[in-house]
Amino acid sequence: MSELRFDDKVAIVTGAGGGLGKAYAALLAARGAKVLVNDLGGNFQGEGKDQGYADAAAREIRDAGGIAEANGDSVATSAGAQAIVQDALTRWGRVDILVNNAGIVSASGTLSNVTDEQWDKDMAVSASGTFYLCRAVWDGMLERDFGRIVNISSGSWFGMGSAVPYPAAKGAVWAMTRGLAAATQAQGKDVKINAIMPIAGSRMTQLMGPEIHGLMERDFPARAVAPVVAMLAHDSAPCNGEMFTAGGGGYTRVFAGVTRGYRATDKDWTPETALAQFDAVMDTNGFHIPAGSMDEAALYTSDVPWDAFKAYIQ
Ligand code: NAI
Repeated sequence: MSELRFDDKVAIVTGAGGGLGKAYAALLAARGAKVLVNDLGGNFQGEGKDQGYADAAAREIRDAGGIAEANGDSVATSAGAQAIVQDALTRWGRVDILVNNAGIVSASGTLSNVTDEQWDKDMAVSASGTFYLCRAVWDGMLERDFGRIVNISSGSWFGMGSAVPYPAAKGAVWAMTRGLAAATQAQGKDVKINAIMPIAGSRMTQLMGPEIHGLMERDFPARAVAPVVAMLAHDSAPCNGEMFTAGGGGYTRVFAGVTRGYRATDKDWTPETALAQFDAVMDTNGFHIPAGSMDEAALYTSDVPWDAFKAYIQ
């Protein structure tokens, strides 16, 4: 197989001053991309800012022979996201690749201790930031009929305790990935939006205590996630709207599926029947992965008005 190259491609990697984002930016640059290394430069809880963080990462990439420039704007506001995209446009004229990697974990502990401010902060960076950046590159990618967006979600939404703002924000990233991918697919555009749940030791995993952080640092280096991001950012990315876990030198597919379930013939069915059918509904044998929101309905009726549905998606 020939090397996956990114010559002449323009990439934005948010939150790329260190950790995973820097590893993504470095790999893309090493393979020819011009990379805008964005990072606000605060701590992992979203406090403070320091443009020097992005500057240092961009310099490191240039020293290794790559093309990289630094940007210190915040993804967490609409104006910041537009400034990031404008920076890339001013320097290089377009954006081909966007990696929405910036993230913070400001809330930890128990639900009752989570403050309104922590909810807003975690949602602002991962959820709003991904939304603002996608929106800012969207029309350009559709017009040029090319784009690759890699959104960074998190396995935390499989369940990680009651400090829910961060997992909720990362779940929103998955929903955005599905919706945007459905739109480009419906329009027949070569714009692909996929997501990963990375697993890597970083300053963020310090939050989970020394034992877990130590394991992550040892067995899950950031560079071992980057190949999956690069594959999804490449022209030859084989999918749209998919999610993968990535870490430690491998990756797996993550999917949302529905079981065969139970279908009452009587629309006026009862809670007793729902309870009686519970085990059958939980059985994952013969599950189905809906391609889109109307796909599940199509399992049970042949009357889905597909033309109306396709017209609705854009
Ligand atoms: P990190 O803390 O080293 O990286 C996050 C980066 O985002 C930092 O450099 C930070 O300065 C930047 N950032 C934060 N707020 C920003 C803003 N408003 N605008 C621009 N940049 C901002 O941690 P790590 O582990 O490298 O995380 C990278 C991404 O991967 C994050 O989205 C994180 O949630 C996600 N992730 C990481 C996992 C892991 O195992 N390390 C697991 C699951 C998800």
